[in-house]
Amino acid sequence: MAIGISVIGTGYLGTTHAACMAEMGFEVVGVDIDQERVALLASGRAPVYEPDLQELLSKHVVGQPGSTGLLRFTTSWETAAAGADVHFVCVSTPQRHGGLAADMSHVEAAIEALSPHLSRPALVVGKSTVPVGSASRLAERLALLAPAGQEAELAWNPEFLREGHAVGDTLRPDRLVVGVRSRRAESLLRAVYAKPISQGVPFLVTDFATAELVKAAANSFLATKISFINAMAEVCEAAGADVLQLSEALGHDARIGKEFLNAGLGFGGGCLPKDIRAFMARAGELGADQALTFLREVDLINMRRRTRMVDMARQYCGGEFLGKRVAVLGAAFKPNSDDVRDSPALNVAAQIQLYGGQVTVYDPKANDNARRAFPTLDYVDSARGAAHEADIVLHLTEWQEFRDMEPAALDGVCHKRILDGRNCLDPVRWRKAGWTYRALGRPSV
Ligand code: UDX
Repeated sequence: MAIGISVIGTGYLGTTHAACMAEMGFEVVGVDIDQERVALLASGRAPVYEPDLQELLSKHVVGQPGSTGLLRFTTSWETAAAGADVHFVCVSTPQRHGGLAADMSHVEAAIEALSPHLSRPALVVGKSTVPVGSASRLAERLALLAPAGQEAELAWNPEFLREGHAVGDTLRPDRLVVGVRSRRAESLLRAVYAKPISQGVPFLVTDFATAELVKAAANSFLATKISFINAMAEVCEAAGADVLQLSEALGHDARIGKEFLNAGLGFGGGCLPKDIRAFMARAGELGADQALTFLREVDLINMRRRTRMVDMARQYCGGEFLGKRVAVLGAAFKPNSDDVRDSPALNVAAQIQLYGGQVTVYDPKANDNARRAFPTLDYVDSARGAAHEADIVLHLTEWQEFRDMEPAALDGVCHKRILDGRNCLDPVRWRKAGWTYRALGRPSV
């Protein structure tokens, strides 16, 4: 039997998942309550920047010249329910206003809206990152609301994709984790993921709570690793040591590994910061808060990097920002993405502006999103434009364009002072070209 798929929510996760399911050969309908977004997607255009995503949409969206026609988008729950056997819930769970916990309202609204239309057997598969215990609660709601009753089942299948690599990570994940309560749910998910499984991707079957926890634990571990190396950067700064050499030496130990040991401005984005906070909040509710108090320290170390960056920039500007021009290279929370949610780069830019600095930002892809989030900062279309008459240049998101940039590209437009917030410019090259180069966690000369 051909399996029909619906994907609920068309953000970074949902749009990518829908496009990749079509790429795997399934007939897919993407559902969102945002009419404008659905109209954009239905016309074959990606609402977010993610490498290879636009190509997949052009290849599969119904009505595009030469497309497979496997992928369409709708705002209708009825249409979604009628055409699909498996429904992936990919809506966001942002940090709740006024607290650390996750805001579950989008997930709950999706289940409430979809369930009444499920009159034939269906598997609803949660991919959103949720507090442990949510799946169990949502399964009850689903069984209660769906006309199909017990034939409408829930599974939890956390998503581990990285932004900037979302398409590749979805087509070739490093593992698949499914929390299920029946053989039927497991075999349906094995059929959906038959391709990656046949390529050797590990398929791990767990209960609901474990599947939910795998995601929270993975993101907590990654955040901890980044904050660990950034804590070492703080010590390096105090001791006059070099955190880059330190992390390289650590990384050779196979038990530690070199991934996620890049010291710099720290983590941001729509996942790690809010996920560790939601995890702490949930552990508190469960009476296990002591187990995760270390995550508070992880969060604080991460935030201190932003403050440290602002302090270093202030020093460079002679002790105050008033009347000083600051160029900011990068606005996205990481390269190859236009996502500016909790972006360390924009956080630093906004702080400097609050202290009276005149900040001009350039990002290869995220200028528009950044402008919407921080409309009072100035935005330009090139690194050279941002650096115009700048007292200092801050490198805050490590786009390849900035890594490759020759110092000569900024000749004659600004003071030759650069602060590398991502530790990936070559100090020798910049110093040779007459620049004062400084970076977080590294000696100044
Ligand atoms: C993360 C997880 O990696 C992914 O598995 C999960 O599904 C969602 O959350 P993402 O938010 O896309 O993915 O970004 P990630 O690559 O993890 O980077 C997060 C932040 O940490 C970025 O701001 C990045 O610049 C920063 N980072 C990463 C570092 O500061 N140092 C590092 O060594 C690695």
